[in-house]
Amino acid sequence: MPDPPADPGSGAGRAVSVSFDRLAPVYDATRGGLERGRAFALDVAPWVVGPRVLEVGIGTGALAMPLSQLLGLPVVGVDLSPAMLAIARDRLGDRVAVCDAERLPVASASIDTVVVVWVLQLVTDIGRVLDEAARVLRPGGHLAIVLSRPEQRPDDIGYLVKTLFERLGPKASDGPHNVADLAGESGFLVRGAGLTSEHEWEESPIDVAEQLERRVFASLLDLTAQRFEEVVTPIAEALRSLPAPDRRRRRSARYHYLFCERPP
Ligand SMILES: C[S@@+](CC[C@H](N)C(=O)[O-])C[C@H]1O[C@@H](n2cnc3c(N)ncnc32)[C@H](O)[C@@H]1O
Repeated sequence: MPDPPADPGSGAGRAVSVSFDRLAPVYDATRGGLERGRAFALDVAPWVVGPRVLEVGIGTGALAMPLSQLLGLPVVGVDLSPAMLAIARDRLGDRVAVCDAERLPVASASIDTVVVVWVLQLVTDIGRVLDEAARVLRPGGHLAIVLSRPEQRPDDIGYLVKTLFERLGPKASDGPHNVADLAGESGFLVRGAGLTSEHEWEESPIDVAEQLERRVFASLLDLTAQRFEEVVTPIAEALRSLPAPDRRRRRSARYHYLFCERPP
């Protein structure tokens, strides 16, 4: 099971598309799949006004499918990665398209709700994505954002994974306060902020060491062999050295959300 926070801030711009094409085959299995999507859908649904709902960075549709079922509304989506969208298309039909969140091929004021989940840490310019969301939303339309930053119950695996991503370098500026400020600059009113309900999963230190070694997180994909050896290998070794490294631990995380409104 996943370490969902572990796509932090590569800020890799166009390279993200390539990264997620490579991650598509393992994405659902390593990020909680439809179960995680269902839990997030329950958190996001109360903020959705319909009927025209757009998910930006829809990925495999792991959130959009349960959200659509819950709302009884079609959810359309865009993403940079054709391989992620191929999975979404199996789930949602032809309601998905390849494009950049910073330049949406969508008419102004034509959408009731925009949903953005675990995406802002990956884009080159968060402000531009929020400006685009504001442009496509009708006055009074809603924006629901779930950030990738987790609040985790402390555990031995989480401590090492957090250490790894701190060592990998500065995070993208997708903390909740910064995103709330940027949303304000894009003309949004922030109407709600908080943490998603708890997402729980089980995994062992060895499971996570193997995930790191297989580079199943976007921010590991483009590390040179030397950097990988310096930063990732010691953490994988530390994971394997934990007590009972093959025993699965119950892990959990909650994620920051922001609910915003385009002023009427
Ligand atoms: C961590 S996944 C989240 C997918 C989905 N929202 C979910 O909750 O499972 C991030 C997705 O954002 C997409 N993405 C990254 N940068 C993007 C951009 N500039 N425009 C559109 N999609 C982007 C990636 O291709 C990837 O599918």
